[in-house]
Amino acid sequence: MKKVMMLAVFSLALALSAAGKSKSIVLYFSWSDAENTRILAEEIARNTHAVVERIIPETPYPRKYAEILKMGRSEIKQKASRPIKALKNDLKNFDTVFVGSPIWFGTYAPPVRSFLQQNDLSGKKVYFFCTHGKGGPGVFFKEAALLAPRSVVGKGFNCYGIHVKKIAPKVTEWLKKDVK
Ligand SMILES: Cc1cc2nc3c(=O)[nH]c(=O)nc-3n(C[C@H](O)[C@H](O)[C@H](O)COP(=O)(O)O)c2cc1C
Repeated sequence: MKKVMMLAVFSLALALSAAGKSKSIVLYFSWSDAENTRILAEEIARNTHAVVERIIPETPYPRKYAEILKMGRSEIKQKASRPIKALKNDLKNFDTVFVGSPIWFGTYAPPVRSFLQQNDLSGKKVYFFCTHGKGGPGVFFKEAALLAPRSVVGKGFNCYGIHVKKIAPKVTEWLKKDVK
C-alpha cells in the first residue's frame, strides 16, 4: 500500500513538473509546399519542449505561385491584415512566445500581422523567426517588434528556406545563446 501511495505521489510530481515546463509556444504561418517555416517551427518546439500551433488564414491563399506573388505583393503594399482562424491554445498559459513567418516582400506575411494585432503579448518574452528565399530577413524583425510593443523581444533567428533541414545545430546554438 505504502509503495502504491509513493508511486502515485511520484507520478503526480512528474506530471506537475512536465506541466510547469510547457510555458513556451511556437506559432507560425507557412505557405509553400516545402513548409520551410513549419519545419523550423517544429525544430524550435522540439528543443524547447514547446507547444506548436499553426496560424491559419480564414480564407486559404491560392496555391499557384504567380497568384500568391500578386496577392502577397498587394497585401504587403497596403499593409493589409489577413483574418485568421481562432487559436486552439490560450496564450495566457504561456510566458514565452516564438512567432515565425516566411519572408514576403521583405517582411512578415499578412496572417502574422493579424496574429500580432489580435493577441496581447504584453509582458511575455517574444522571439521572432523567419525563413526566406535568400533575400534575408529584410525589415521583418524591426516591423514585427513594432507589433509587440509591450513584450520583451529577444534576438530572433532567420534562415534560408532551402537550408532548413540542416539548420538544427544553428537553432540549438541560438536557443542556448540568445533565448532565456
Ligand atoms: C509571396 C511571396 C513573397 C516572397 N518574398 C520574398 C522576399 O521578399 N525575400 C525572400 O528572400 N524570399 C521571399 N519569398 C520566399 C519565401 O520567403 C521562402 O521560400 C520561405 O522559406 C517560404 O516559407 P514557407 O515554406 O514556410 O512558406 C517569398 C515567397 C512568397 C510566396
